[in-house]
Amino acid sequence: MDGNGRWATGKGRPRWMGHVRGAHTAREVVSYCAQRGVEQLTLYAFSSDNWKRPADEVGFLFDLFASHLERQLAKLLKHGIRLSVIGRRDRLPRALCDAIAAAEARTADGRRMHLRVAVDYSSRAAIHEAFAMAEGRGDALSSPNILPPVDLVLRTGGERRLSDFLLWESAYAELAFLDVNFPDLSTADLDGVFADYAKRERRYGDVPAPANAKVSA
Ligand code: IPE
Ligand code: MG
Repeated sequence: MDGNGRWATGKGRPRWMGHVRGAHTAREVVSYCAQRGVEQLTLYAFSSDNWKRPADEVGFLFDLFASHLERQLAKLLKHGIRLSVIGRRDRLPRALCDAIAAAEARTADGRRMHLRVAVDYSSRAAIHEAFAMAEGRGDALSSPNILPPVDLVLRTGGERRLSDFLLWESAYAELAFLDVNFPDLSTADLDGVFADYAKRERRYGDVPAPANAKVSA
């Protein structure tokens, strides 16, 4: 979800207004994805590198997230949406951790869509942690911060990079980049991204299906 700050400064407004609008867009994205049948959606809300930002912006983002969590809980329950938060918890404000734990517990039975919000998240840190957990057991990489394989990554805001988001999980993800600041992301934009995704042939290193059939015949 990139481009909140630029959305605001482009209109001569303070950055926090962009985050408020971005949070509104995030709510719309969640409900539209659930409506379109997306089963798993992960929103990158706060990267571990975002701690570099001024403390008042960081504090504002956490307060905004906590207030949305509480206000959206009834809607998540109503629509069968399970909420999980991935990333580190130990550096988050205590009140936010409590709100997260409560929302996770209340929505745990949601089956329609699994919504994950990445907060104080670093994919490289998650991979390190998972390797440390698996060490000596030869297990497949598994930890609460390692997700199932990702089908599609969408980044708004015009940058063409992954910025430490779901690196392991995106090994075969389709990538979409929109030159739209996150607060301006519309359901029509999402329709365009989904339509483009539907056209892509996912071969996972294999050859296209008909050619493969010919070789084995
Ligand atoms: C939102 O956009 C992403 C968050 C970290 C909350 P930004 O805050 O990165 O906005 P830009 O990139 O400065 O425009
Ligand atoms: Mg940004």
